Amino acid sequence: MSRSAHPAGPRHADVWPEGHYSAPPADVNALDPKVWAQTVTRTDTGEVSVGGIGVAALAEEFGTPAYFVDETDFRARARAWRTAFGHDADVFYAGKAFLSRAIVRWLHEEGLNLDVCSGGELTTALSAGMPADRIAFHGNNKSTDEITQAIEAGVGRIVLDSFQEIVRVAHIAQSLGTRQRVQIRVTVGVEAHTHEFIATAHEDQKFGIALADGQAAEAVRRALTLDGLELIGIHSHIGSQIFDMAGFEVAARRVVALLAAVRDEHGVELPEIDLGGGLGIAYTSDDDPREPHEIAKALGEIVTRECEAARLRTPRISVEPGRAIVGPTAFTLYEVGTIKPLEGLRTYVSVDGGMSDNIRTALYDAEYSVALVSRTSDAEPMLVRVVGKHCESGDIVVKDAFLPSDLAPGDLIAVPATGAYCRSMASNYNHALRPPVVAVREGEARVIVRRETEEDLLRLDVG
Ligand code: LLP
Repeated sequence: MSRSAHPAGPRHADVWPEGHYSAPPADVNALDPKVWAQTVTRTDTGEVSVGGIGVAALAEEFGTPAYFVDETDFRARARAWRTAFGHDADVFYAGKAFLSRAIVRWLHEEGLNLDVCSGGELTTALSAGMPADRIAFHGNNKSTDEITQAIEAGVGRIVLDSFQEIVRVAHIAQSLGTRQRVQIRVTVGVEAHTHEFIATAHEDQKFGIALADGQAAEAVRRALTLDGLELIGIHSHIGSQIFDMAGFEVAARRVVALLAAVRDEHGVELPEIDLGGGLGIAYTSDDDPREPHEIAKALGEIVTRECEAARLRTPRISVEPGRAIVGPTAFTLYEVGTIKPLEGLRTYVSVDGGMSDNIRTALYDAEYSVALVSRTSDAEPMLVRVVGKHCESGDIVVKDAFLPSDLAPGDLIAVPATGAYCRSMASNYNHALRPPVVAVREGEARVIVRRETEEDLLRLDVG
């Protein structure tokens, strides 16, 4: 077809030197199981289905754009994390990745705990029946109201992030006549990125209390003197979308060194350490995430080894994966609108959503994959950029990918691995209506977060 923008020779190298795909995939219809949820498959007709339901029927019933979450996959991943960490460790799902009441119920049923970082997340968790003692409360600037709400609810732990907060939480707990279990979040001087980590003396960021200059030891000193607090451990979170365990190794070593210093100074062995979240997932076929059991084994070995060296009892470990549980379990379904071939460049494919349902490409230059899901095609692949409908040229959903060159308005395309940080960071930019989240399982689909309506928009606009 003449519209094909199949890249060739220097033209491709000029416009797309850093592109994710160096060449079109062997089969543009193939669905790589690394990036698609467990039950996603192509049926005999060529249409893609999830949980046994075809995307055309899903689009018909729920509209587009919409997020479809594979409940079977979500539960399997949650269970895999739970099982991998066993009974001597705790898994706290990081609600910021995506939280709704159905998600809370699934987590509860699968035996996971929950990390929340705002009063809103806490309210959602409690309203869906998550026992408060299985909730950890995070944040670098928790309000007095949020702290009071968390302590009154009886959360299992509050993760303290600053000196002011140590005093504030102690004071509120005491005035409520209780002792709050707390951890102190430390910055270990490791900034981890996808494939590498950088150790810096000073961490120039807002979270936690630095280990390097003795601040963390001072924070422990203060927390131990306050009646309103029961200090149960140290927390560290080193970053996101990490594949390399080396950063966790440095973090674990430094946290254990602090535990040893605390034991030497105060004669107290703190019983817990939390190594945070941040484990990477596959957004494209090039990403190779680790399995939960490998991560559990690696973390367990590092902590045990370091504790033996320091002659400490091995503390109870906890982790806080968000993306690694929910990320791969969902895809966003879009309808193709306008298609604009730019001669010598690429073809722009506009969809009915965009940066309002997935800000990650614009914000982090994130890589995504995309597939034509309403049918298969034998047409040659063309290089596309999938863009949204917002008034902004940075409104890009998938920077560079291949779709069949006979793509037409009305086709359905889907972007996999959008379960984490897409709906949770969705916006109403241009008064877009945030898409629904639909859970699909064994031939049944049900809305777990409904689509926003224009009435919702007008309800907030009280002028
Ligand atoms: N624990 C703490 C204390 C965190 O701050 C985070 C993420 C997590 C756990 C979960 O991290 P995960 O396993 O999901 O990577 N909006 C960004 C990610 C921000 C993550 C912030 N904290 C994104 O879309 O990539």
